[in-house]
Amino acid sequence: MTIQSVRGMPDILPEQSGGWLFLEQTVAALFSSYGLVQVRTPVVEETRLFARAVGDVTDIVEKEMYSFDDRSGESLTLRPELTAGVVRAVIEHGMLHNQTQRLWYQGPAFRYERPQKGRYRQFHQIGVECFGFADSTIEAELIELTDHLWRALGIRDALDLEINSIGSVSARESYKTALVAFLHSHFDSLDEESQSRLERNPLRILDTKNSSTQALLANAPALEDYLTKEDSAHFEALCLSLDQAGIRYRKNPRLVRGLDYYGRTVFEWMTDSLGAQGTVCGGGRYDGLVQHLGGRATPGVGFALGMERVVLLMETLGVIPAQMQTQADIYLMIQNVQSESTMRSLAREIRFQIPGLRVMTHIGGGSLKSQLKKADKSGADIGLIIGEDELKTKSVVYKPLRGGDQETLPNEEVVKRLKLLRDM
Ligand code: HAM
Repeated sequence: MTIQSVRGMPDILPEQSGGWLFLEQTVAALFSSYGLVQVRTPVVEETRLFARAVGDVTDIVEKEMYSFDDRSGESLTLRPELTAGVVRAVIEHGMLHNQTQRLWYQGPAFRYERPQKGRYRQFHQIGVECFGFADSTIEAELIELTDHLWRALGIRDALDLEINSIGSVSARESYKTALVAFLHSHFDSLDEESQSRLERNPLRILDTKNSSTQALLANAPALEDYLTKEDSAHFEALCLSLDQAGIRYRKNPRLVRGLDYYGRTVFEWMTDSLGAQGTVCGGGRYDGLVQHLGGRATPGVGFALGMERVVLLMETLGVIPAQMQTQADIYLMIQNVQSESTMRSLAREIRFQIPGLRVMTHIGGGSLKSQLKKADKSGADIGLIIGEDELKTKSVVYKPLRGGDQETLPNEEVVKRLKLLRDM
């Protein structure tokens, strides 16, 4: 029996990797233009980090973590998200003393969920975490950054932004008491999952998918009414900043998110082009987390996007640039083996003179016809052929592969011609 990849942990093959690279390259350039610097933390952390940061009674910690004892008996976990590790790192390396931080990261995360389109057990996130900013301007800046990213990727029109304030800890505690009291009085009408959440994590009931529970919630106390004056002012200031930036959003009073560390602002970007797994990006403020993990009280705000979902959306909308989905711009061919070293030296010359141009040499012989087939498949626009005559006259056949007439160019003209083509 052949061995297959682990369920929910798919390979990313060359047909898809162009979209991934497009996303990664766009992000690297865009995020640095906002002054963000990159951080890389390990894939494995101590289990108790996630229990403490994400929360003991969240789905992630209760049901979805890949945890194991290592050979010394220490309980370790494949990270289910990256925020906890980043917060651990900034505390551990003293990065919060009298300074702010604007960090970004990218990497795999692991959750034992039921796999389906857009939901995997190994998936990848790109995210940002900023520390030391109490003002809502940072939320506005990060939301603007995501909006800018969607535009750069060509998927902006397929995405909608939802925002909410879940208030500070004290506001949430008094709201929880009121919500639990209300739901207790309707316990029998609740769906089973909400019944079990009532004791453990009542706020999560707010984003139930069950329609009769949803109907019940219409009459429940509203979180909004429990926000402190400062909470409300913070949220209003954010809404104003978004208005000023021309970013449309929907206030969703039911948006609570699935991780415990949030306070005040939460937001999500969603699409209805991907079916059930429509949340492409989520984040919010977590002012208590640094202190909760042993650091000095420091405000934090961040978000993460799911790379699989963003790439799927780009594929669905057909916005991945054609260049990212082909292998070569130029394909070099030869009529017989004597021309091989000339071909290699020409390829070398082109690669050194025109960085970034994708140059493939034909390897493995065969008829010119079969070489042209490979040239076509590579996606190249131009074929360069060194035949017997060209070898003698130090020239090449310059052959447009997507229509146009071929011509013979002296070797020293080739680079010039390709440079012209690139600048067009
Ligand atoms: P999250 O909402 O759990 O937040 O995940 C962020 C994004 O990761 C989701 O919106 C989704 O696109 C993607 N994602 C999550 N689970 C899966 C999965 N099983 N398969 C594919 N994609 C998935 C966080 O992880 C927070 N750490 C975000 C954050 C950063 N908040 C503040 N800073």
